[in-house]
Amino acid sequence: MAVERTLSIIKPDAVAKNATGAILKAIQDSGLRVVALKMIRLTEQQARGFYAVHKARPFYADLVKFMSSGPVVVSVLEGEGAIARWRELMGPTDSAKAPKGTIRGDFGTDVERNASHGSDAPETARVEIPYFFNAGEIQAVVEALP
Ligand code: CMP
Repeated sequence: MAVERTLSIIKPDAVAKNATGAILKAIQDSGLRVVALKMIRLTEQQARGFYAVHKARPFYADLVKFMSSGPVVVSVLEGEGAIARWRELMGPTDSAKAPKGTIRGDFGTDVERNASHGSDAPETARVEIPYFFNAGEIQAVVEALP
């Protein structure tokens, strides 16, 4: 399987619950590597741009408000099949339907306040990663120090 990179966002609800460390631990325990990481607060304009594909949806305005309501932790995850693995670890979009043991099942509330985001395909990751990180902010993996 190919080594991929995917964008992860720990959303304002999960950051507010002080779950950032627990979520990063679950990511690392799954074998994915964090190769870029920062805490930021999205402006409404940044949130609108990031979710522009959803702009015709009825939930768009609320989603933009929620995503800019507090700090988020954005990261780039790397590993074989990282896109599908991160989505599996997050669980389904609706946290109310997400099993315990998934990020959304453990830390989310509903379909909007769902604790985390992940890119849904390689083409999406190629757009979403540079939305938050320039090339110099993404580190090469060091498997083992000499
Ligand atoms: P995410 O994976 O970040 O991608 C789009 C987001 O829109 C999604 O997580 C949810 O936070 C939100 N979303 C998706 N569907 C709905 C919905 N039916 N109602 C409200 N918010 C939604």
